[in-house]
Amino acid sequence: MSAAAPYDLTICRDADELAHKAAALIAQVASESIRRRGRFTLALAGGSTPKATYALLADPSKQFVVDWSRTFVFFGDERHVPADDERSNYHMAREALLAKVPLPVEQVFPVDTRFDTAAECAAEYDQTLAAFFATPPHAFPALDLILLGLGDDGHTASLFPGAAALSEVDKVVTWSPPGVLPPPVDRVTLTFPALNAAEQVAFLVAGSGKAPAVRDVLGGDANVQDRPAAGVRPKSGRLTWLVDSAAASLLEGQ
Ligand code: 6PG
Repeated sequence: MSAAAPYDLTICRDADELAHKAAALIAQVASESIRRRGRFTLALAGGSTPKATYALLADPSKQFVVDWSRTFVFFGDERHVPADDERSNYHMAREALLAKVPLPVEQVFPVDTRFDTAAECAAEYDQTLAAFFATPPHAFPALDLILLGLGDDGHTASLFPGAAALSEVDKVVTWSPPGVLPPPVDRVTLTFPALNAAEQVAFLVAGSGKAPAVRDVLGGDANVQDRPAAGVRPKSGRLTWLVDSAAASLLEGQ
């Protein structure tokens, strides 16, 4: 068991308010990162929850301003499927956001899933990140913001309960066989040390199916093998949970 990492928790009325707060957070971190470092490095989450947030960022009438000319986009994880496959996280992000904003294509770094195995895709993405961030050997890049989702089983990115990937402490990127939740395809994922090197990590969690995992992880009752999201403990960065009321429904005193 491990006490929950220190975190900021915002409980949102519903998934729509969560999407608005997430878009506002991304815009705020982007502005701060560009002001301080001249660029904004962002890792997108996959799955379905972030789609509404991405759509708000893509909608100029919503006024969530991001200087895309200074923004560099990566992926916290990816399915080992073609980039145009409906199951691809890159495909989802491209449809919802990346194709709709003035973000130069050379500033988007999808996982190259054309290799025969997820292991090869992971090794290539590891090199991609090392080259971009000029990370010394055995060091981890500090992305400005990593977005994460939470599976009903407590997985995050593609770090699944009981998976060997949970024990990877030397690489930035690794691979995993599928977890129990669909889609049943091999995955490529950032590792815990990579997630925990970020300046800020933000979980976006909606729906009652997530409530037991949210309770366990935020209540400090979870071990990482059973609820991998409990392993997200930024070394020096901020940890933010944006949770809708349904997903927060089992929290004490919610
Ligand atoms: C993926 C995601 C995964 C996702 C959670 C929550 O590739 O599916 O990286 O970690 O964030 O499974 O998914 P939903 O947002 O669809 O509930």
